[in-house]
Amino acid sequence: MIIKNADVVLKEGVKRLDIRVENGVIAELAQHIAGEGIDCTGLTVLPGLIDMHVHLREPGFEKKEDIASGSAAAVKGGFTQVCCMPNTRPVADNKVVVSYIVHRAKEVNLCKVHPIGAITEGQKGENLAAIGAMKAAGAVALSEDGKSVVNTNLMANAMLYAADFGLKCLCHCEDASLVDGGVVNEGYYSTLTGLKGSIRAAEDIVIAREILLAESLSLPVHICHVSTYSGVQLIREAKARGVQVTAETCPHYFTLTDEVIAGFDTNTKVNPPIREERDRLAVIEGLKDGTLDCIVTDHAPHHEDDKNVEYALAAFGISGLETSFALSYTQLVRGGALTLGQLADRMSAAPAAILNLRGGAIEAGAPADLTVVDLNEKWTIDPAQFVSKGKNTPFAGRQVYGRVKYTLVDGDIRYREASK
Ligand code: DOR
Ligand code: ZN
Ligand code: ZN
Repeated sequence: MIIKNADVVLKEGVKRLDIRVENGVIAELAQHIAGEGIDCTGLTVLPGLIDMHVHLREPGFEKKEDIASGSAAAVKGGFTQVCCMPNTRPVADNKVVVSYIVHRAKEVNLCKVHPIGAITEGQKGENLAAIGAMKAAGAVALSEDGKSVVNTNLMANAMLYAADFGLKCLCHCEDASLVDGGVVNEGYYSTLTGLKGSIRAAEDIVIAREILLAESLSLPVHICHVSTYSGVQLIREAKARGVQVTAETCPHYFTLTDEVIAGFDTNTKVNPPIREERDRLAVIEGLKDGTLDCIVTDHAPHHEDDKNVEYALAAFGISGLETSFALSYTQLVRGGALTLGQLADRMSAAPAAILNLRGGAIEAGAPADLTVVDLNEKWTIDPAQFVSKGKNTPFAGRQVYGRVKYTLVDGDIRYREASK
């Protein structure tokens, strides 16, 4: 198969090229390759997008999402690889659940799905989970996502054991005693709405703890969904003194501020909460200077029953796979903060490097995981069009640029936009 006349995003810049794919691998890149192919005139080819933080909800919460619907949403969003968090039921804290996810994802055969194992048994924060067995079954990282490991000594042991198996801990940073039932950012809008707020320090204190642990143990650590200006600063300072810390953020933290809660739309309820303009700008600055390595969705699909309730009772989370690329491209590249090459890094090369996944670059010999987009197409986000079971987005009605046309995984077209 040949992809013809595309603007190809390479490490060294964007070039008009043909790409020949053979046996699932990029065989050749050249200005003109003879033969039949897909005409991609006017389209841009990115290295297959990788989302290292999603919730696919299977096993246990298939009403919210399952591996089939989540994978369909992933390829529709341009993602060729996703890493799924272990807060399923049962929790992915053992080799049986981890290998179930691996096998089910292969049956579904849309994107590559890499499970993340829990740090502690049942995510209870008491005993370490069977890390080696999970790694052998296919886990690519460990996380307690949804909460932090409260016991600092246990977290230190988790980092040590994880490192022995070549895995990293991906840390959801939240001091629950400080959050104390807060559901939004504490500030003007929490006061205005009467919704209980939670302060930045609830996130920052645990970011600082994980950094200090990684520093004293000389081990790597990854910080999940950074939302505060002060968290960005802690990570920037740590990197400057050589700590092996990497970090991610999500589109909602660089596109929205907490004024969106004023309408009491529960689709704006997410953990950590959407914060203020100062935080939003710092997150963009962090992505720009590389303090924040990558963009993830924290795709957290929920059922209408979990969201169509009063704000304080609604579930936390945003369904993000089908909007992430367009929101990121529109806000960051069209907004002038990042080049297209830098966006490809934050959404593909960086997560591949953090988790040691194959992918992240368009070059001969690499797997033909490719995302083909029309950067000029303007469209309106409409959750009714989502293939994810989770229609929970605060972005309904928003106009964005950048439409995914094809998603190829190992050279196979796994998503093609329906013709209009
Ligand atoms: O908003 C969130 N939703 N944050 C989390 O940490 C967990 C996630 C979920 O599982 O729904
Ligand atoms: Zn989380
Ligand atoms: Zn999450």
